[in-house]
Amino acid sequence: MTQRLTPDPDGIRRAAALLRDGALVAFPTETVYGLGADATDAESVARIFEAKGRPRFNPLIVHVEEIAAAERIVRFDATARALAEAFWPGPLTLVLPLREGSGIAGLTAAGLPTLAVRVPAAPTARALLAEAGRPVAAPSANPSGRVSPTTADHVIAGLGGRIAAVLDGGPCTVGLESTILKPQDGQIFVLRQGGLPEEAVADLLGRRPDVPPATGLPDAPGQLASHYAPSGQVRLNVTAPEPGETLLGFGPVDATLNLSPSGDLTEAAARLFDCLQALDRSGTARIAVSPIPEEGLGRAINDRLRRAAAPR
Ligand code: TXA
Ligand code: MG
Repeated sequence: MTQRLTPDPDGIRRAAALLRDGALVAFPTETVYGLGADATDAESVARIFEAKGRPRFNPLIVHVEEIAAAERIVRFDATARALAEAFWPGPLTLVLPLREGSGIAGLTAAGLPTLAVRVPAAPTARALLAEAGRPVAAPSANPSGRVSPTTADHVIAGLGGRIAAVLDGGPCTVGLESTILKPQDGQIFVLRQGGLPEEAVADLLGRRPDVPPATGLPDAPGQLASHYAPSGQVRLNVTAPEPGETLLGFGPVDATLNLSPSGDLTEAAARLFDCLQALDRSGTARIAVSPIPEEGLGRAINDRLRRAAAPR
């Protein structure tokens, strides 16, 4: 059962408590309803992909209450700060370098060195973020492949029964996802057109933002193999590793690192990017990976692993 909560102080407190307990709570922003989870807890974030039936781990937008909270998890250059000061709270997402030790779960950014961050303006979202006291990862609250929800009824129609609660704050005022900008090397790339018009950005900066180069225009950058490839060679579906290979295990196997000794796919999804990064940091040259069942989150895990293993 999905609870429908009223955004009064009691409803906000209950929604925030659910988030802190690792549950999924949909909430209205001014753009669309987001499907929120504690961005610092990988298993909670893994549940987002499970509930949406997302076959791949797209990186997620992290929602925070104010600029100061964003500064603790990503690095701003002067342009990014000007954009944030002008348009936050509001329908703008900034993709910025993730800080070391930010506490954000690796799965949230799908293993990327950057993180998408926004400060939403809708009062319900702001109240929830203040009460939760932590960054909240939230994609649009729709099943994968369906349109973004702009009312609590849309959310229930798509995800009812699969999420703990939805905060019903009425219809979204913008109803279109946030504009995503990525300041990089003196340019400002528009990764997604959205609720903040490009003209407003141009007025502030005194010039039009830049069109990203064709290769750098990932509507879903999580799908680019290169983002996920560790520097070592990766061999999949390995039951007996060869001498010189380091086994990334799944299930009850003798392995250096194990995605989930008990064979739990939610735990494995939560640990995947952190394990790949750990193997990379340790300079492992040959990585063997245990078979992962091609079901549920296993499909997304295998998708990512196949990309990591693809010849390059
Ligand atoms: O209005 C919105 O932005 C809504 C509300 C809930 O905040 N959220 C939303 O999230 O639309 P989602 O997951 O449906 O779309 C996020 C987009 C994806 O296309 C993803 O690829 C991109 O943001 N994205 C996330 N992190 C990124 C990163 N590090 N670099 C580039 N793109 C990124
Ligand atoms: Mg979406």
